[in-house]
Amino acid sequence: MSVHPHGAAHAPVDRRVQRRVMARPAHAPLELAGRRVLLRTLSEADFDAWLEVRCRCREWLVPWEPRPKGAPLPSEDRASFAARCSLRERERQLGTGYGFGIFVGSRFSGEITLSSIQRGPFQTGHIGYWIDRDLAGRGYTPEAVVVVLAFAFDTIALHRVEVSIIPRNHASLRVVEKLGLRSEGIAQKYLEIDGEWEDHAKFAITSEEWRRRRDQLIEEWIA
Ligand SMILES: CC(C)(COP(=O)(O)OP(=O)(O)OC[C@H]1O[C@@H](n2cnc3c(N)ncnc32)[C@H](O)[C@@H]1OP(=O)(O)O)[C@@H](O)C(=O)NCCC(=O)NCCS
Repeated sequence: MSVHPHGAAHAPVDRRVQRRVMARPAHAPLELAGRRVLLRTLSEADFDAWLEVRCRCREWLVPWEPRPKGAPLPSEDRASFAARCSLRERERQLGTGYGFGIFVGSRFSGEITLSSIQRGPFQTGHIGYWIDRDLAGRGYTPEAVVVVLAFAFDTIALHRVEVSIIPRNHASLRVVEKLGLRSEGIAQKYLEIDGEWEDHAKFAITSEEWRRRRDQLIEEWIA
């Protein structure tokens, strides 16, 4: 079943959609539709497509991936992929994170996650993403981010979503610039990326800002 992000017109929280997401049986994929991209939770059946893109794009992705110094590159075998899908499924059931494959047509094209979800007084989550190098520069990632923002605010009712970017990652900075996410400055030595503690430029959008900008972002990127 698809959750169409532009389906909950003007309602800050569509409780019915929220209940449907929470009530979905375990292992039923969650799909969010954009204009050109479809976001879908991954399962072991996606392994071959994921591996083909991952191998072809390894050098493109590794410099931006979280990894402690000296740690090996992440395992790329089927069992590790299946374990990661199971972990994500568990996070989805708990409501602590949502990981999606980005599909263009039926082609697996990248990943986007809404992770580190904290409830209580925070009500916050963090977006991360990557796209197949052969499909870069076509605006698929900003479109996917808007789809995830609609889900984060309109469906699961977060109050704040953040994106953190190494300042030399100009392509990723362009994604948040295009979407007009608010800059919050530099967090020093914020994340350990490819073995180095890296400063990160922080960007955020709150539900108040989303309500003001929602129609424009959806019109521009999804509708
Ligand atoms: C960052 C990333 C997700 C952007 O995705 P995208 O779908 O290409 O996003 P866009 O199409 O909006 O392009 C963003 C910018 O990338 C740059 N770009 C375009 N084509 C490119 C290419 N073939 N190779 C490298 N960079 C390119 C351009 O500066 C573009 O900005 P512009 O549209 O103003 O010219 C993608 O570059 C990527 O996956 N990089 C590797 C992993 C990564 O950095 N993840 C993010 C960590 S914070």
